[in-house]
Amino acid sequence: VETPVGVVDLARTRANARRAVEVLADAGVAWRPHVKTHKSREIARLQLEAGAQGLAVATPREAEVMASVTSDLLLAYPPVGETKLARLMSIPHEVDLTVALDSPEALEGVARASRQAGRTTGVLVEMDVGMERVGLGSVDAVADLAGRVVGTDGVSYEGIMFYPGHIRSHRSEQAEALDRLSERLDGVVDGLTNRGLGPRVVSGGSTPTLAGSHRLPALTEVRAGTAIFHDREQVALGAAGWDDLAYTVLATVVSTAVPNQAVVDAGSKALAAEERGGDGYGVLLDRREVRISRVSEEHGILDLTDTDWSPRIGERIRIVPNHVCVSVNLQDRLLLLEEDGAGRLAPVDARGRVAPGEGP
Ligand SMILES: Cc1ncc(COP(=O)(O)O)c(C=O)c1O
Repeated sequence: VETPVGVVDLARTRANARRAVEVLADAGVAWRPHVKTHKSREIARLQLEAGAQGLAVATPREAEVMASVTSDLLLAYPPVGETKLARLMSIPHEVDLTVALDSPEALEGVARASRQAGRTTGVLVEMDVGMERVGLGSVDAVADLAGRVVGTDGVSYEGIMFYPGHIRSHRSEQAEALDRLSERLDGVVDGLTNRGLGPRVVSGGSTPTLAGSHRLPALTEVRAGTAIFHDREQVALGAAGWDDLAYTVLATVVSTAVPNQAVVDAGSKALAAEERGGDGYGVLLDRREVRISRVSEEHGILDLTDTDWSPRIGERIRIVPNHVCVSVNLQDRLLLLEEDGAGRLAPVDARGRVAPGEGP
């Protein structure tokens, strides 16, 4: 296979899926993995076979592609804009479609499009729990919007959603933040219940907080996505061990001309340009002492100062990226590797913006 290419270790991927389902089952919560991490039908099927209950998506294309794999889809992103709404509505009616939103404008758009399409779309009202990205901040604001959902034709009120993306401390240091979050969630659920708006669904979760899900009894489902492959950041946060890493970028050494470094053919267009606090762009799977210290678009610079390894031109190496989701999004296809070494290429089906089959 030509490099650079994203490589998926299927045995580790299956083990990661099983572990997510088990950890969440122990907490009494369902797993609705976010597919943004892999964007692949085949990996989505693997997650559902492992026990995931439905899938979460962010884009119309992810929704269109994943509608062929599950009949239970959550668009965990505010659906705004006529063309996006039209695409969502053309998803087969057998697919149970729910969307998350935080404004009357988004609600009106979804409701209008749903009525026109003759379908009912589920709605989760999104609340902000500290990330300050999207979501309403107060119980009153959440309840006002939930009340509007109940009074609007074309949509059904299903509950609330949040994303705890602000909790990025090490797993061993999250208890206090999770307990605060739990109090907050309980307050919102109680406030809604007192107003006759008790949520059937409380959708939350992330990979860094996955193992702490039992601390949030209000949860009904967790949308952890990165947990299917993990990455350098999740290892640093204690959410994964080195042996859980299921995705690497296979690259070839193309130059050793400059002392103390080697250059590979995976740069920012294969690994992504996400640096981790001055600690480079990734690290070698089999030689953790070697970091990718710099990237150009097609060049990755390996820092050789801390290793006795002398790479040869043409030698192949596997890089653990800092953030797997953005690296997968840069691949045309993935090399899926079985334990016995058998490999096959699979498309990154849900990548990109255009509808499947649509021209430029
Ligand atoms: C809305 C939403 N839900 C779920 C996830 C999945 O979280 P993680 O990447 O920590 O698995 C994300 C990640 O960005 C997200 O934005």
